[in-house]
Amino acid sequence: MTSHAIRPVTEADAELLFTWRNDPETLRWSRQQQPVSWDDHLRWLRATCRDDQRVYRVVLEGETPVASVRYDRLDDAGHRVEISVLVAAESRGRGIGSIALRRGEQDLRCAWPDVGRIVAVVNRDNVASRHLFERDGYRLQREDQAWLTLAKTIDLIPPGHGGSGPTGGVDSG
Ligand SMILES: CC(C)(COP(=O)(O)OP(=O)(O)OC[C@H]1O[C@@H](n2cnc3c(N)ncnc32)[C@H](O)[C@@H]1OP(=O)(O)O)[C@@H](O)C(=O)NCCC(=O)NCCS
Repeated sequence: MTSHAIRPVTEADAELLFTWRNDPETLRWSRQQQPVSWDDHLRWLRATCRDDQRVYRVVLEGETPVASVRYDRLDDAGHRVEISVLVAAESRGRGIGSIALRRGEQDLRCAWPDVGRIVAVVNRDNVASRHLFERDGYRLQREDQAWLTLAKTIDLIPPGHGGSGPTGGVDSG
């Protein structure tokens, strides 16, 4: 059985993430459908790696990066984050998305134990993405023309049971 690990994104992932971001299927389902330039991507990634309001991870299958998952804090008071997930084109359709959600959520809870709700904004025609989130417990909250908002409540971890724990664990999901 192949094992999957998760680790923080670094600037060394720039090329990989650039390819995934400008992949035709990713662009098709993005709110921003124009390809990103290399310079803009590098600027964005440098800022993102220093941004303490984002949890950004790469999922590895063995040694190979196969997906990314990112959580952006929406507000401090509401303890909500918005999720973005991407699976490498050659790895789609075989459950990696689910592994990314599960492993990403574990890291999210370690990094930010106060988060109680994860929000996903999905194009209504993006069937794979919608299935992925629904199977993971996300439920439809709002419909806004082409865009659906799905959300999932996660249990708040009591003080002393969470915190900035280690990342990079391995499972065999
Ligand atoms: C959407 C995405 C993250 C899903 O990840 P994945 O690893 O390919 O998905 P999975 O293999 O876990 O499958 C998820 C579900 O979608 C279904 N599915 C997968 N590919 C599909 C396709 N092309 N058409 C319809 N359904 C599809 C699967 O059968 C599964 O449904 P089920 O739970 O009812 O069995 C991935 O395809 C991707 O990165 N797409 C491009 C970027 C994108 O759309 N990101 C999400 C933005 S919100």
